[in-house]
Amino acid sequence: MLKLAPSILSADFGHLAEDVKKIEEGGADYIHVDVMDGHFVPNISFGAPVMKCLNGKTKLPYDVHLMIENPDKYIDDFITPKTEYITVHQEACVHLHRTVQNIKSKGVKAGVSINPATPVSTLECILPDVNLVLIMSVNPGFGGQKFIPGALEKVRELAEIKGAKNLDFVIEIDGGITLENIEEVMDAGVEMAVAGSAVFGAEDVTERVREFKKF
Ligand code: DX5
Ligand code: ZN
Repeated sequence: MLKLAPSILSADFGHLAEDVKKIEEGGADYIHVDVMDGHFVPNISFGAPVMKCLNGKTKLPYDVHLMIENPDKYIDDFITPKTEYITVHQEACVHLHRTVQNIKSKGVKAGVSINPATPVSTLECILPDVNLVLIMSVNPGFGGQKFIPGALEKVRELAEIKGAKNLDFVIEIDGGITLENIEEVMDAGVEMAVAGSAVFGAEDVTERVREFKKF
């Protein structure tokens, strides 16, 4: 069954706790936390204090997506009892292996993400060390963008390596995911999907999560 991680980037920040309750009622698996610094990506979102406001207000674990430069400097800020994954970008980490070990040494699962123009082959050496690989299906920075179909081929390639080498990372996809393309994405090998505008832009957010969870 698909694991769904709605992105609160598309939620109403004025009613964040209520919005999170809605996705929880619908059966969401994670809260996807999109952190943007205005350097690695051309947009600024929010930081750890906003995420921490949800502590005690939801049972859902956090799936943190750091779209920032120098992530090592900020990793500790995002560690809470409910932080399950912290994902950094391959493109933002000169010493990716060290960053991944740093995350895992804090008792949190480590993820690595690649942008649409970055090939899967750049992850070859780090795959045995990571708990999750996040394939970006839009250029990171904004919610509500159109799905880039080339991501499907990258998911297939990753799924093949995972099977061939008997590795156990989760394959996640992020960007432009809708009820229309979710089946195709899962067929390619995705186990966990992020959805922002497709969830929080719905008239009935709880029902939309239920619809995703039918897949
Ligand atoms: C993009 C973010 C995504 C985004 C997804 O930079 O990493 O998580 O919020 O939003 P949608 O689902 O609207 O593309
Ligand atoms: Zn994201």
